[in-house]
Amino acid sequence: MKLILMGPPGAGKGTQARRVAESYGVPQLSTGDMLRAAVKAGTEVGQRAKAAMESGGLVTDDIVVGIIADRIGEADCGKGFILDGFPRTVAQAVALDAMLAERGLHIDHVIDIAADTEALVSRITGRSTCAKCGEGYHAVHKKPAVAGVCDKCGGNLTTRADDNEETVRNRLAVYHQQTAPVIDHYRNGGTFRTVDGMLPMDTVYTELCAILG
Ligand code: AP5
Repeated sequence: MKLILMGPPGAGKGTQARRVAESYGVPQLSTGDMLRAAVKAGTEVGQRAKAAMESGGLVTDDIVVGIIADRIGEADCGKGFILDGFPRTVAQAVALDAMLAERGLHIDHVIDIAADTEALVSRITGRSTCAKCGEGYHAVHKKPAVAGVCDKCGGNLTTRADDNEETVRNRLAVYHQQTAPVIDHYRNGGTFRTVDGMLPMDTVYTELCAILG
């Protein structure tokens, strides 16, 4: 299964990608997670990506295309993968088409998780994530049993540097300018579907599974 999960910041791409990855036994390829890991490790890619990420802008296409091209060649992607946060520009979508065609592969499903802008701001500014296992939480919609501690693994919950309101609004503006046009790239290909990301998380997951089969 090769799936692209699209949607604006906070729509629930990461939340749903983790669940689908667990159920279907394919890896979640989140460019955001990979870039944050590179920034944390201080690699050359991380140093080049840092400023754009902090401002809520996009990292350059050559960096993210390179990361994904390397990652989909790894053994665990043999059964498929879930792209979470990539492609985010039409140029990235065109590069993805080319790298898959070279390998004789194609995307099976492109699913856009749609959501209202104001709900997204509140979702992101209330979000926390487990530093150990990556599980996501929210101050209202998904509270951990013990404040600051992951229900799943006991790890510490952290917040992202780009999850303040000013940066979130910039990320949303960048999404509308640069990422929304990617929907048109896929809309007529027969693999594109939309799910309502304003529904409760479990309902969104059930709808995704109904599409994936
Ligand atoms: P990235 O990490 O991809 O961030 P994003 O797209 O802004 O998306 P988020 O991770 O904020 O949201 P999400 O949709 O995953 O929502 P989540 O499931 O966490 O990218 C970060 C940065 O990296 C970018 O700004 C850019 O600089 C760079 N970058 C990454 N990829 C790039 C690329 N391809 N090209 C260039 N630059 C790139 O949910 C959010 C919250 O809401 C959580 O608290 C969750 O619990 C809650 N929630 C989820 N679903 C629901 C629901 N149905 N109901 C109620 N609450 C919900």
